[in-house]
This record gives sequence, structure tokens and C-alpha cells, in this order.
Amino acid sequence: MLSNNTFLITGIADENSLAMKTAEKVLQNNGNVVCTGLGVTQFHQNLSEKASDFLNKNYDDFKSAVEKVLGKDIYTEPLDVTIPESLTFLATDLKEKNIELNGFLHAIAMDKTIRNKSVKPMLEVTPEEFNDTMNVSAFSLVSLCHALLYGGVLQNGASIVSLSYIAAEKVSFFPYINMSIAKAALERLTIEMAYELGNKYGIRANALRFSPYMGSKAGNATLKDEDVERAHRISPLGNALPEDLAHEIVHLFRPETRITGEIRHVDGGFHIMG
Ligand SMILES: NC(=O)c1ccc[n+]([C@@H]2O[C@H](COP(=O)([O-])OP(=O)(O)OC[C@H]3O[C@@H](n4cnc5c(N)ncnc54)[C@H](O)[C@@H]3O)[C@@H](O)[C@H]2O)c1
Repeated sequence: MLSNNTFLITGIADENSLAMKTAEKVLQNNGNVVCTGLGVTQFHQNLSEKASDFLNKNYDDFKSAVEKVLGKDIYTEPLDVTIPESLTFLATDLKEKNIELNGFLHAIAMDKTIRNKSVKPMLEVTPEEFNDTMNVSAFSLVSLCHALLYGGVLQNGASIVSLSYIAAEKVSFFPYINMSIAKAALERLTIEMAYELGNKYGIRANALRFSPYMGSKAGNATLKDEDVERAHRISPLGNALPEDLAHEIVHLFRPETRITGEIRHVDGGFHIMG
């Protein structure tokens, strides 16, 4: 189904990342993947010991999970989407290695106003916290498109998928506040990319809103059992699983789908409930 197609999978932190399930599914469908993980790059400057320990551990976990689940031959590279040089380096490196991309998964989010399952009210969020979350979790979609397209790596007709959730649109009982605003921006940016890149390059861009999922690092840092159980109870089909999400992403990655600019729900029908 995806033969001779290569996709960049961002956002793998460990075996339980949503992006990992997607990478597995692409391989099962005869596609190829290259994976980036957050880690120390040659472009980081003045990192504190705490920050470099965090980044090194993150990258080690990423590397060993990729090796274990996807195999030793998968091409991996560190990437920090907040550093423009890191993005340019990724594109240059892929180009040098003759790796052409038929699309990518944006599965990146970070919000420092969420700590130990508690989240700052919007009124307490500082401009710096707001801008950081926006940059990492939303604008990085544009930064990635920019680097990969102008680096000559992202091919005409490629497919881009970003990950969002229902809180982008309305106040939810999930404890995301600042992050919800970034997700709203991510969705709108996805639509803008669908327009700009569709017109010029035939590139598609879609966003998927997924059910709450505690298996990943990001989900576990944010959600409580009762949030996930409540969503499961309300949703007509129960919460969607990472496998369901991966299935839909692979569908959108298929070169023959003329689908773009969509905000789709893979959430067991949660979004239709009042
Ligand atoms: N878990 C859920 O309930 C849920 C629901 C809907 C959507 N999502 C979205 O799915 C995506 C993946 O999340 P996940 O649940 O698999 O969690 P995860 O923790 O496995 O993935 C988040 C990823 O973002 C990466 N990241 C953070 N800052 C980065 C930076 N500066 N540069 C590069 N990468 C960076 C992290 O390293 C990590 O790999 C996120 O966009 C998240 O918002 C998650």
C-alpha cells in the first residue's frame, strides 16, 4: 500500500508513543520510515546539566525503542524543532543521503504549564510560557514544512498529518488549557499548509483529533485515570486506540487519497456527545 514511500516520523519518545504505533503501521504496509527524537544537537548552546541530562535520556530511550520495535536499520536523528539550525541540518542530512520524503507525521507537543497532572489556569500563564508552547507544539509544523520543502526533501504529492484533540475547539474536562490554544493554532496551520502546499506542490495536510491516552509520556504527565475512563464511557465506541490512529494515518499517507485540509476525529465518537 505504501511501497516505495518514505515518511518522517517525529515525536517518538519511547515504545508507547503514538508516533511509534504509526511507524510500525507504515512498515507493515511496506512503507519506509526515518525517525527523529528530541535530543542534544550540535546546535544547543548553554544547556544546563539538568537540561542536557533530560535530553540525553530522552534520546537514549528513543533510540533503544526504535531499535527494539522497528529494527536496527531505521535511520534516526536528533531534532529539536525550536532550533532552526537543527531543522536545516535534518533536511540537509536527508538530502545528502538521498532520502526523499513522501510525507511526515507531526506528533510533537510540550507545555511547561502542565506539571504532575496539574495545569495552570489560562489567567496565570505568562507570555513566555504561551509562546514556548505555541512554538514547540504548533509553529513547528510550519518550521518542519519550511525546512523539508526548501531543503528539497519533501516531494510533490506528499502527505502531512498532525495530531490534535477536541480541546482545540471547546473547553473539555481534560486538564489541557494553554496546550488547547496551541492545538487550535496547529489545526489552523494544518489547514493553511493544505492550501499553500496543495496549490503549489500537490501536498496534502490533515489533522487528527485523538482520544485521551495515558500510555505515552505526554498523556501520562497530563491525564488522570478518571478523565480517560469518563471519555471511554461517553464515547459511543469507547476510546480509540493507538492502533486505530495509526490505521487512519496510514490511510491519509496513501498517495491515492485526494483528502486535504481535514480535521478528523479518531475518538470513538466522543466529539458527537454534548
Ligand atoms: N496522549 C494523548 O492523550 C493525546 C491525545 C491527542 C493528541 N495527542 C498528541 O499526540 C502527539 C504525540 O503525543 P504522545 O501522547 O504520543 O506523547 P509522547 O510524549 O510520546 O510524544 C510527544 C513528543 O514530543 C516531543 N517533543 C517535545 N518537544 C520537542 C521539541 N522541541 N523538538 C522535537 N520534539 C519534541 C517529545 O520528545 C515526544 O517525543 C502530541 O502532539 C500530543 O499532543 C496526544
